[in-house]
This record gives sequence, structure tokens and C-alpha cells, in this order.
Amino acid sequence: MSESNSSDAAAAAAGRVSAGLHGFMMTQILATSVEVGVIDAISGGSCSISELSASTGISEKMMRRFLPALQGLEVVRVEGQRVALTELGATLRSDVGTLAGLARLLGNEHYAAWAKLGTSLRTGESGFRVALERDPWSVLDASPDQVDSLSRLSRRSTDFFFDEITHLIDLPARSRIADIGCGDGSFLAKLVAQHAELRGIAFDQMSLLPIIRRTVHEYGVEAACAVRGGSFFEPLSISADVFILKSVLHDWDDESAVTILHRVRESMGGASRLVVIEFSGEHKDDLLGAAMRDLNMLVLFGGADRSATEYTDLLVTAGFKVVREARGSSGILVVEAEVATLP
Ligand SMILES: C[S@@+](CC[C@H](N)C(=O)[O-])C[C@H]1O[C@@H](n2cnc3c(N)ncnc32)[C@H](O)[C@@H]1O
Repeated sequence: MSESNSSDAAAAAAGRVSAGLHGFMMTQILATSVEVGVIDAISGGSCSISELSASTGISEKMMRRFLPALQGLEVVRVEGQRVALTELGATLRSDVGTLAGLARLLGNEHYAAWAKLGTSLRTGESGFRVALERDPWSVLDASPDQVDSLSRLSRRSTDFFFDEITHLIDLPARSRIADIGCGDGSFLAKLVAQHAELRGIAFDQMSLLPIIRRTVHEYGVEAACAVRGGSFFEPLSISADVFILKSVLHDWDDESAVTILHRVRESMGGASRLVVIEFSGEHKDDLLGAAMRDLNMLVLFGGADRSATEYTDLLVTAGFKVVREARGSSGILVVEAEVATLP
């Protein structure tokens, strides 16, 4: 390689690394556009810079400094004194999709938590707890915004993965299904809506119950679906043929995950089955995406995207035996287990 070729390659490499290092600024520009209300103020079509200034409480002078960043990220179009959302910008409107809620979360709590990645790597602790000195799930009690955000993410997960997951699990006919940590309840509600012979029990924290009831109503399954609130660290006293833990165990360290599994096992009769549904930590088609998802679990909760073997180890420790394993093309892993030893 000639000297000039190798210095071009070094500059290109430095450019890529530098772009990665500056990623945090993009997060803040996008998240702030939602947080200060720029996106929603324009969402009706277009507005003038002075209207934008009046509705956000940001001076026109500052707004004129901020807008070029949003133009650069192709979120807004500025023509003369008027500002309009682009197709990209429209995805950040609060009244559509999940990105506005995600922007608020990523720009605030998650941003602070990720600044503690080094601490999490050294100690295994949740960066969220270290940075914000509270339990990541306690934010739901204090913030309807966060409840709304979690429920939209949960709904999006149902919309994306429902068919893939239902092809992977094998539900006995006429069974009672308890979805423990069910989020907005849409996975269970959709399942029950599609199979009239199934009955459901949707269980999550008290703060989510209004959302779950709304979902159950939306799917028209109130008569077939009970809604229960509480903590899965306490005795559950739920009777069901199938217990589902979907995207729950990855939020917890091994010790807490085993406690949750113990609580489920206490509720299970000898003939009932537990279905664990998670993204597999081994899915490496998208190496960076999978690693970021796993590190996110560490940083937010002290949890992990585990491998099938690691889930099996947790299940065995909690007194289960694994009876079936299945994987989907997107990296979804289903592990089905039965009680090995009665509690
Ligand atoms: C990542 S979400 C998964 C939600 C849903 N299963 C899904 O797949 O979309 C984890 C769920 O665990 C619930 N959760 C967290 N701590 C809990 C607790 N102590 N008791 C009951 N549910 C809890 C949260 O409220 C949340 O709905």
C-alpha cells in the first residue's frame, strides 16, 4: 500500500470512529426535538419560526440555531420563515407510533444510565440504578408518560412478532394461559381473540392495569381474560395450564430471575407448563444490534439476553425441566419447561 493510500485509510478509519463518538449528539438533538415540543408543534402541517418559538418557549434566536441540526438530520424542512416535518420527522410525532416515547426515554433516563456502562461492566450493576438511584421499574409508578411508552413498545412487539411466536409455541387446546409481566396485555389478548377456546389471565404491575384493561376491551376479550395486578416477586396464586414469561427474564440478574421462576413454579400444578420467550443472546446475524440489546439489559436492569443454555440453567436451578426449545428467524427463542420437583 502506498503512503498516501495508507494515510487515506487511516483518515477514513478515524472518521468512522469519530462519527460513532458523536452519536450522543444525534440522540440529544432528536430527543430534544420531541421533548421541547418542536415536532408536535409542527405536526399539523407547517408553522412559522415565530409560532414555533411561541409554542415551545424557546427564543427565535435559539430556534434558528436548533433548526439547522434538525434539517441536517432530515427531520424538518425550512423554507423561508416556515418549518415543516419531513417523512422522517413525522415518525417522531406523539400521536403516531412509538418513537416519541422512545425519544423521551433514550434522551433522559437511558442516556444517564448508559453513561455508567463502565460501572455496569465492572460490577454487573444496573447503570440506571447507579445513575438515577432508583429502581428502573419504579418510574412506571411516577410517570404516566413512561407507562404509555412501555405499553406502546409492548404493542409494537406484539405487532411485529406475534405470528412468529405463535408458530413456535404449542398451546394445548381449551387451556388457561397466564401471561406474567404481560406489558400492555396485547400478546395475550390477541391470542385469546384468535382462539375462542382459550382463557387468559393478564398479570403485571398495578400501574399497568388501566392500560391492560383498555387492551382487553379493544380486543373484545373481557369475558375470556382476567386482569390481575401485583409483583412477580411475591406469591402469585394464579392457577393456569400455561404460564408465559415473555421478555421478562432478560430484565433481571440471575438471582432475581430464579426468584421469579420460583414464584411461577409455586403456582404451577404438575401438568402445567411454562413458556419462556426471549431474544436469544446467541443470534449473531446482526452482531452490533444483538450486542447493543444485551448491553442495554445490563445497563438498564443488570439483566442479560441469555443463550438457550443459560435459560436452561436458570430453569433447572428454579426446579424446572426443559421439555422443548424452538427458535425463530428473528432470533426469538422459546423454551418450554415443566416442574421437575414440586416446591
Ligand atoms: C420488557 S416488559 C415485557 C412486557 C411483555 N411481556 C412484552 O413482551 O411486551 C417487562 C414487564 O415486566 C413487568 N414487571 C416489572 N417488574 C415487575 C414486577 N415486580 N411484578 C410484575 N411485573 C413486573 C413490567 O411492568 C413490564 O410490563
